[in-house]
Amino acid sequence: MTSPLRIGAVGLGRLGRFHAETVAKHLPHTELAAVCSVVPDELASAKNHFPNASGYADYTEMLNTECLDAVVLTSPSALHCAQLLQAAEAGLHVFTEKPLGITGEECQNVVQQVSAHPDLTIMVGFMRRYDPSYLEVKTRLDAGDIGRPILFRSYSVDPETCIDGALAYLPHSAGQFLDMAVHDIDLARWVLQSEPRMITAAGGCYAHPEFAAHDDGDNVAAFMQFKNETMVFLLAGRTAPHGYQVETEIIGTKATLRVGMTPQRNLVEILDAHGVRKLCSQGFLERFEQAYIAELAAFVQCIRKGKPAEVTVNDGLRATEIALAAQQAFRDRSSSSEPA
Ligand code: NAI
Repeated sequence: MTSPLRIGAVGLGRLGRFHAETVAKHLPHTELAAVCSVVPDELASAKNHFPNASGYADYTEMLNTECLDAVVLTSPSALHCAQLLQAAEAGLHVFTEKPLGITGEECQNVVQQVSAHPDLTIMVGFMRRYDPSYLEVKTRLDAGDIGRPILFRSYSVDPETCIDGALAYLPHSAGQFLDMAVHDIDLARWVLQSEPRMITAAGGCYAHPEFAAHDDGDNVAAFMQFKNETMVFLLAGRTAPHGYQVETEIIGTKATLRVGMTPQRNLVEILDAHGVRKLCSQGFLERFEQAYIAELAAFVQCIRKGKPAEVTVNDGLRATEIALAAQQAFRDRSSSSEPA
């Protein structure tokens, strides 16, 4: 029997605490050996909840002190590249949350540097690739079930109830395209097996003018044409009144596939004085819980089998580059000519 993989979980915020829980509870032959957060309350709570894990407020100290096999990085996006390279230099396998990085240069540097470590599994967390519904979409496209894809349309809109968190996060946000639409960008690349050749973007502040100060919108959209001719339309926003609106539609010459058009929490319908209602999921943990667990299980499987990651740093680089191109197109939009 092989010894358990010793994993350090870095970042214990909205998603990081869940990843730490997954390592501790759901992954066989794996040990949550250390947790790391610069927020004292989070760290204290995690040390209490995971008594077998050592707690660190400093990432470098964790790497220097603990005998780890891998790290799971759920720190702010601007830190992913540097922390990833530090871990790889120390010989550790790395799972990093999306986006891989917030500039093309830092992502290119990661791609170049990790090529010197073919023995390591370095994975980027695009969890939709592990969601059962999106997996079925991928299988059907690969089998040619929908014919030639004409339009790929995908929305990622957070509930308005989360707007306070989004506004507080604005100074650290990499923008809607990198924070939100990057999931749809990766999805499009993955299922279409193609890359954009044209990108344009638009958007605005429809409810929250605060986004304008950061050269961003509360809702932004990009329109692309991929090299295989598929048209791609993406919407990323923060103002869904009803819940976590993540939906995708792919129209092909032979069939159309749709995922999550109504973001319903479960199969319950409520028939009452207001009519017929379905309750909606209210956030990423509720909608993608299974996928978050499955992606970390896949990461551990790859390590165990000595295989490269299924979602690579090159996928992370491409998604960041495309998101940045969309962001630039959004920021340049005022210079585009108005139709006559
Ligand atoms: P958060 O702000 O709730 O938590 C950030 C965590 O990083 C905190 O625990 C903080 O202590 C820690 N941290 C900050 N600086 C650090 C440092 N120097 N060393 C070690 N830890 C440090 O952030 P949230 O929402 O959990 O997002 C974290 C990352 O996860 C982001 O990159 C975000 O894009 C990604 N994310 C991905 C999602 C997905 O659907 N795949 C959903 C939500 C977030």
